[in-house]
Amino acid sequence: MLTSVQNVLGDETRGLPHLEMKPKMPFKRNILCIGAGYVGGPTMAMIAFKCPQYKVTVVDINPERIAQWNSDNLPIYEPGLDEVVKAARGRNLFFSTEIEKGIQDSDVIFVSVNTPTKTFGAGAGMAADLQYWDKTAREIRKYSQSNKIIVEKSTLPVKTAQAMERILTCGDNGVCFDVLSNPEFLAEGTAIQDLENPDRVLIGSSQTPEGFLARDVLVEIYANWIPRDKIITSNIWSSELSKLVANAFLAQRISSVNAISALCEKADADIQEVTRAVGMDSRVGSKFLNASVGFGGSCFKKDILNLVYICRYYDLKEVADYWEGVVKINDYQKERFILNMLQVMFNTLAGKKICLFGFAFKADTGDTRESPAIRIAKRLMEEKADLVITDPKAINNAKDDLEGEPGNVSYVEDPYEAAAGCCAIALMTEWSHYKRLDYEKIFQTMVKPAFIFDGRNILDHHGLHKIGFNVFPIGKPPLTHY
Ligand code: NAD
Ligand code: UGA
Repeated sequence: MLTSVQNVLGDETRGLPHLEMKPKMPFKRNILCIGAGYVGGPTMAMIAFKCPQYKVTVVDINPERIAQWNSDNLPIYEPGLDEVVKAARGRNLFFSTEIEKGIQDSDVIFVSVNTPTKTFGAGAGMAADLQYWDKTAREIRKYSQSNKIIVEKSTLPVKTAQAMERILTCGDNGVCFDVLSNPEFLAEGTAIQDLENPDRVLIGSSQTPEGFLARDVLVEIYANWIPRDKIITSNIWSSELSKLVANAFLAQRISSVNAISALCEKADADIQEVTRAVGMDSRVGSKFLNASVGFGGSCFKKDILNLVYICRYYDLKEVADYWEGVVKINDYQKERFILNMLQVMFNTLAGKKICLFGFAFKADTGDTRESPAIRIAKRLMEEKADLVITDPKAINNAKDDLEGEPGNVSYVEDPYEAAAGCCAIALMTEWSHYKRLDYEKIFQTMVKPAFIFDGRNILDHHGLHKIGFNVFPIGKPPLTHY
C-alpha cells in the first residue's frame, strides 16, 4: 500500500504508475487547515504568503468566523496580519466552511482546533478537553479518499498522536495517514513576526521510513522561508511534550518574578533593579522577566494544568506539585493586587469609580482569554466598586467576559473620558499608548485622593507622583502623599 507521503510527494514519485495518473493539479500541494482561530488563521496565511505554489485552505465549523476571514474585518487583531492575508487571499489562500471538500482535496492537513481545559467529568479543571480534536480525526477518516499527512498544530497531551493514529486507521477504506507533531510557538501580538522569523520550527515524526518521509514533506514546506538549521526534528512524543514544557518554562519565569515582586514590596527592593541584575547573567537572559498583575492568555494555564495532570497520571506527585505551583503563584499575584487596592483605598471600594486601563491579556491583541483583568474586574465588582473599562481592541470581548456579572460596569473607548470621575486607575494591559497619555489632564478630572495601580510597571511612577497621584507599582515601594 502507498504511504500518504507517496501521494503527497508528486514529482518525486515519478515512476509509480498509479501516481502518474493523478490529475494534474494547478498547485504543487493542497494544504488544508482545520480550525480558523488565532493559530490556524495566521499560520496558514503565512504559509500561503510565502509559498504561492501551494493552495492553502482554512476551514472551520464556525461560519461567522469564516465570513470574517473573508472580509475586511478579520476576526482577530494582530499587527501585520491584514497585509499578509490581503496579499494571499483569493490567490492561494482560501477560507471556507466546506470541511468535507477540504479534506477530500488536500494532501497535507493541519489540525488547529481548540484544546481547552476540560470542565466536566474525569480530569475536570486539569486535563485537556479533546472532544474537538477527536471529532476532527473522525471527520478526516470519514471524508478521506486519498492518503494524507496529518499535522498536529494544536497543543496536545503527550501521546495524542497515537490516539489520532488509532482513530484514523480503524477504517477499512485503504487510505493511509501519517501523523506528525508540529506545535506552534507564536505569541499573540507578535504572531506575524514570530511566524516569519521563528526561533525554531519543531517537527516530530514516528521514527520509521514512512514517518521520516512525511516529516521531510513538512520540512520542505517550512524551508521555503525558514533557514534549515532552525527547523528541528524529533520523535513525536518529544515534540508533543516540548510544547507543554516550553509554555511551562515561560510561565514559570513570570511566576518566579512575580513571587519575588511580593518580597520586594516588603523589603523595599525594586523588582526591575533585581531582574536587571539577574537577567544580565547570560545563563538566565533578560527576556520575559517583567513583573505583572499575572500572566493571562488561553494557553499558559491550560498547558501547565495539562502537564500537571499528565504527571499525576504517571504518579509523579512531586513533579506535578512543582509545576502546579506556577499556576498557584499566578492566582496569588492577582489576589494580592486586589487586596492591595482594597487596603490602600481605606478598606472599602463600595461605590468608588475605578477605571481599568486595558482588558486584553497583553498588548497588541484584542484577545481577553484568561486575562488577569477578568479576575480583577470580577473581584472589584464583588467589592461593589463601579467599573469603567477602556481598551483599544478588547472592549467587545470584555463585554462578553463580564456579561451577567452583578454590578455596575461601563465601557468607554477614550481613556481620558474613561478615567474622568474615577478615584483610581488600575493598569491591566501594557498598551504602549498608555505611557504617552497626558496624566496631568487625567489627574484634574479624577476624584481625590487619586490612585494609580500599575499592574505592568510601564508608567513613569515618579512623574505621576509629582502630579499628585498615589502610585502603586508591582514589586516596588509605593509613592504616596499620605
Ligand atoms: P481558537 O479557539 O481561536 O480556534 C480554534 C478553532 O477551531 C475555532 O474557530 C473553532 O470553531 C474551530 N473548530 C473546533 N472544532 C472544529 C471542527 N471539528 N472542525 C472545524 N473547526 C473546528 O484556538 P487557538 O487559539 O487558535 O488555539 C488552537 C490550538 O493552538 C490550541 O491547542 C492552542 O493551545 C494552540 N496554540 C495557541 C496559541 C495562541 O496564541 N492562541 C499559540 C500556540 C498554540
Ligand atoms: C505564549 C508563548 O509565549 C508562546 O510561545 C506560545 O506559543 C503561546 O503562549 C501559546 O501556546 O498559546 P502568548 O500567551 O500569546 O504566548 O503571549 P506571551 O507573550 O507569552 O504572554 C503571556 C502572558 O504573560 C501575558 O499575559 C503577558 O502579559 C504575560 N507576561 C509576559 C508577563 O506578565 N511578564 C513577562 O515578562 C512576559
